[in-house]
Amino acid sequence: MEQLLIDPTADCTADIDVSVIPDLPADTFVAPLTKPAHLAEDWLEPEQRTYSSAEHHIWDDLFAQQMELLPGRACSAYMDGLKRLDLGSGGVPDMAAMSEELRSMTGWEVVPVPMLIPDHVFFYHLANRRFPAGNFIRTRENFDYIQEPDVFHDVLGHVPMLTDPVFADYMAAYGRAGWKALHHNRLKALSALYWYTVEFGLIREEGELRSYGAGIMAGPAELVFATGARSPNRIHLDVDRVMRTDYVISDLQPTYFVIDSFQELYDMTVARNFDDLYAGLAPGFTYANQAVLDSDTVYHVGTQEYALRGGSGSGAAPI
Ligand code: PHE
Ligand code: CO
Repeated sequence: MEQLLIDPTADCTADIDVSVIPDLPADTFVAPLTKPAHLAEDWLEPEQRTYSSAEHHIWDDLFAQQMELLPGRACSAYMDGLKRLDLGSGGVPDMAAMSEELRSMTGWEVVPVPMLIPDHVFFYHLANRRFPAGNFIRTRENFDYIQEPDVFHDVLGHVPMLTDPVFADYMAAYGRAGWKALHHNRLKALSALYWYTVEFGLIREEGELRSYGAGIMAGPAELVFATGARSPNRIHLDVDRVMRTDYVISDLQPTYFVIDSFQELYDMTVARNFDDLYAGLAPGFTYANQAVLDSDTVYHVGTQEYALRGGSGSGAAPI
């Protein structure tokens, strides 16, 4: 009898048509974002804005500050990408020049957007290997932390990882996954996965925990906290668990999830069909973001003292 072979890397979302922006099902909650009148439905700016010399200076100072902290804390894929893209040559980097280099490596490009864009438009761009990056740069008052993704977060945080072939494929597949999550009304769960991987992911490398998450890379406090502090938990990434885990966007994370390699991340997500997972999810999150479960593979049980002392705004030290 002929044996049926199942290709474990076959992507169950491969048949999705990514050439058009996905429709939003009528019952989907979408953040009330108002599109500036000069932009089309894809939210793309016709070109990157020009920055004042004071703004270029902010980039240079942010960049210098992070460069003191990244070696030994950022994973090697990120450090290689950073070198390759030459993001520290002076001032806010040019997205067109960056895209040319990136296209030759992994087929990705970086495109300017005015602000945070709606999820379904974000999925559309990712699926087409376009990374939408905020056009504006933070002010000196918000030097170390802003909630809205600006050009420093998007370019310094995200773009170097897009030079890694496996991670680059994961990001594009995540865009297609968005189509499906919309259809299943499971956007929040899929967003938790993005949060705990793309934004705040850690990877084991040379016996250490290092960052590959953009939210960690672009923030000096979080980079030190995520990789070295005793407060937060470090737990091995389990997709079913993470998609049931709440997350906060306004403070250092109480828990980080860890992978062994980008291939492992790819195998747990792209190469798996999420249909059953979606069908079994409760409408809200099941686990608090500080929780450690019996079923977790734990590298470090956090003391949570930073969060317990009140977290951001309380004066608690990020230890
Ligand atoms: N394979 C997942 C699905 O069936 C999609 C996915 C791809 C999820 C990449 C995350 C990242 O929906
Ligand atoms: Co981001």
